[in-house]
Amino acid sequence: MNNKVTKAIFPVAGLGTRFLPATKSIPKEIMTLVDRPLIQYAIDEAREAGITDFIFVTARGKSALEDYFDSAPELEKSLKAKGKTGLLEELRHTDMESGAIAYIRQREARGLGHAVWCARRLVAPNEPFAVLLPDDVIAGRVGCLKQMVDAYQEVGGNMVATMEVAPEQISNYGVIDPSGSNGRLVTAKGMVEKPSAKDAPSNLAVIGRYILRHEVFDALKEQKTGAGGEVQLTDAICAQIGKSTPVSGYRFEGNRFDCGSKAGYLQATVAFGLARAELHGEFRSYLESITHLPRAAE
Ligand code: UTP
Repeated sequence: MNNKVTKAIFPVAGLGTRFLPATKSIPKEIMTLVDRPLIQYAIDEAREAGITDFIFVTARGKSALEDYFDSAPELEKSLKAKGKTGLLEELRHTDMESGAIAYIRQREARGLGHAVWCARRLVAPNEPFAVLLPDDVIAGRVGCLKQMVDAYQEVGGNMVATMEVAPEQISNYGVIDPSGSNGRLVTAKGMVEKPSAKDAPSNLAVIGRYILRHEVFDALKEQKTGAGGEVQLTDAICAQIGKSTPVSGYRFEGNRFDCGSKAGYLQATVAFGLARAELHGEFRSYLESITHLPRAAE
């Protein structure tokens, strides 16, 4: 069984309604934490995990994403002429070698499962692949996907990132029904998408990092709709349990920010701002005067 993971799918075709009106013209994934777009954090995490092939599932209105990964010769020339080597180095991070990145269109936002299915022709039958949702930003000593890829070499199957969430939050997530655990790994005997707190089989929520096998496309091809009338990735992964592919949850080490929600995005902005050496002093002093902030922003 081939357990080497070198390909990743980034579903970025969602409508991003929680950030309207901004997302009317700006893809959510281009929104920045300090000065780097959300998508850059996901790409860096994927590279650290050994990903070399990047597949973006995009949609109408997302062309800013494609431009972001293109080279910018005029900008580079001007930075070079001005001797701005630091900024030139920053720009290099955004470069993608020709052929390393592929764009596939999801014609209609029918759910995460449908978005992943749109990339089915770009994944070979015996090839495991990662899925990263860029609006889940995970800060850690070792990237979340790298931790998962390392564990995946041993266990294979389908793997999802998981973390404990509070009961009042659980209905926002896919939730694991665990049958056992070993260190950071949890074996799943089932998964439920967006259960109510009282029906949730555990407090282990599925977070936006996955390593999947091709068999998941067999379930996705049926295009069955689930919670919210969308084709759910969780349901397709769950359908493999007891049939073709076992599923494990990986309890990653790190802090996860839900940048798909306004509160999570603001928390991430504060955390990543404070982590920047050049902002630390000024930004911290400002936060220390926090009691005056709500008025100032009115
Ligand atoms: P979300 O559930 O956050 O949906 O999608 P969304 O459309 O991005 O945002 P809201 O809820 O309307 O504010 C999770 C991930 O799945 C992708 C999104 O781009 C995001 O990365 N997705 C979702 C698709 O690619 N296609 C879809 O049809 C739905």
